[in-house]
Amino acid sequence: MVENIKRSNYCGELNKSNVGETVSVVGWVAKRRNLGSLLFIDLRDVSGIVQILIKTDGIEIPDIRNEYILNITGKVNLKDVPNPNLKTGEIEIEASEVKLINTAKQPPFIIAEQTDALEDTRLKYRYLDLRRPNVLENFKTRAKIVKIVHEYLDEHRFIEVETPYLAPSTPEGARDYLVPSRIHKGAFYALPQSPQLYKQMLMVAGFERYYQIARCFRDEDLRADRQPDFTQIDIETSFLNQDEFLEIMEGLVYKIFKEIKNIEVKLPLRRLTYKEAVETYGSDKPDTRFDLKLNDLKEVLSKTEFETFKNNKYVKGIVVNNFAKECSRKKQDVYNLLAKKFGMNNFFFIKYENNELSSSLLKFFNEDNKKELIEKLNLKEDDLVIVATSNIGYNVNFGLGALRCDLAEELNLIAPHTYDILWVTDFPLFEKNEETGEISPCHHPFTRPKDEDLDKLLVSPEQVSSYTYDIVMNGYEAGGGGLRIYDQEVQNTIFKLLGMDEETINKKFGWFVESLKYGTPPHGGMAFGLERLTMVLTDTTNIRDVIAFPKNLNAVCPVTNAPVEVDEYQLKELGIQIIKEDE
Ligand code: AMO
Repeated sequence: MVENIKRSNYCGELNKSNVGETVSVVGWVAKRRNLGSLLFIDLRDVSGIVQILIKTDGIEIPDIRNEYILNITGKVNLKDVPNPNLKTGEIEIEASEVKLINTAKQPPFIIAEQTDALEDTRLKYRYLDLRRPNVLENFKTRAKIVKIVHEYLDEHRFIEVETPYLAPSTPEGARDYLVPSRIHKGAFYALPQSPQLYKQMLMVAGFERYYQIARCFRDEDLRADRQPDFTQIDIETSFLNQDEFLEIMEGLVYKIFKEIKNIEVKLPLRRLTYKEAVETYGSDKPDTRFDLKLNDLKEVLSKTEFETFKNNKYVKGIVVNNFAKECSRKKQDVYNLLAKKFGMNNFFFIKYENNELSSSLLKFFNEDNKKELIEKLNLKEDDLVIVATSNIGYNVNFGLGALRCDLAEELNLIAPHTYDILWVTDFPLFEKNEETGEISPCHHPFTRPKDEDLDKLLVSPEQVSSYTYDIVMNGYEAGGGGLRIYDQEVQNTIFKLLGMDEETINKKFGWFVESLKYGTPPHGGMAFGLERLTMVLTDTTNIRDVIAFPKNLNAVCPVTNAPVEVDEYQLKELGIQIIKEDE
């Protein structure tokens, strides 16, 4: 039977202007308070919550419990004492008719904005967790972003195209999710890590401006900002140089922040090269909402008698204001765990108190050394200098970079609701494995090297920089991309450098390389991580807050328990036999 539901208004949209009207609303019972002959109910629908007053001796009412669905008709009254915590807090509905639409089992946790339920429980009953108004709000924001993206890109001549999910493997660098083929036993599709090669072929096809809200799949270790299936705002264009392309992307970012946050992002966005970002902030996705910049102390400190400063190629430090007194031995031990994680034994701590330096290392300093350090870092009372040393630049930069972020959090250096957006550009084309000496693409093998570095390709490939850019928001890599190679000769050189012979290339993506031979336009693009963008715009640090049915850290969907074992006959049909790990 379909209930005849009466609805004249949405709960959360009622206000003073409705006073005196008779309205009908439908929703879930979020809260109820029974004061004898008066029953107060908070009724929740997709738009928000409104208070219902039921004078129980006046009308017939059903049994009412939390999360039951009610259809209420009544008059909107002004409340004597408004509730400032509720958008509709100035009014309430005095019910004249209460109809029970459905009952509900007692939920495993209280459905309210603030909950102390464990995330595991919330995710298991995600459909209940999603009833929480603040959680729902994240999805409204996410949907709004997508709508703005469609509008903006449509206005800028982009064509939305869908590309296959059942695809061959693409070179994004993570492990693939494989899908076995029933028809071709032993052969597998790979779920796309991104539509990268398809979108490039669309440029060969002459689409000129493509976009797609694309689901992507990557089997990699999960983190607070990473999920195995996630969504990209994937974009590719032809005939634009890097500046022209970034300008269009900045317009999109501007529109999103303006329409969602009413914030006017200052354009053009700040740009840091990869080198500047790593050397100054110790990260390729620097959070520049706070200072704590890295200082090169090699020259100053190698003048001391301390061998470690002399022997290590990289000696850098950060100055933490007003922290010398507070930074106990215990705290230093905690920070040193981070040093170890980045391949160093420990950090060195130098304090500036009562107008002089103090540190266990001071016995290695003469008066000039002290003076020079104080001057170089412009030290003030209660400053703490934390120094990192290593022969590997990565360890020092990224170690201090990680410490810098931890300290910002510990010391509350980040003002809430501030947005810090910048481009990091010119990533190296290759990264070198310190152990094997092998090089691999930083982005993917189709990334275009900088014209001015082409002559270095064969001589010192690790010094070649590329036309690449990441958009960084509040320390998150919210998107990234680059210009692509359209010159066959350059492409072949890159393949050779990566140790790929003709056979390997043909096997891996011969079909793609073939497509590039038929008049490839100069092209390039990027992909925003939709979840990361939504995280920044909803002020959350947990990607699961912006995905309706996320996986937990073990890559399991807590609602459905996926992945699950399948029936024997399904495996047989696919010609697959499972070997258990302990067999
Ligand atoms: P990239 O691999 O940098 O580039 O991905 C683009 C953006 O996607 C987001 N992202 C993720 N978000 C959530 N969970 C994940 N596991 C995850 N992995 C990536 C990030 C990232 O910046 N094809 C290229 C783009 C291009 O060159 O045009 C690509 O996929 O925000």
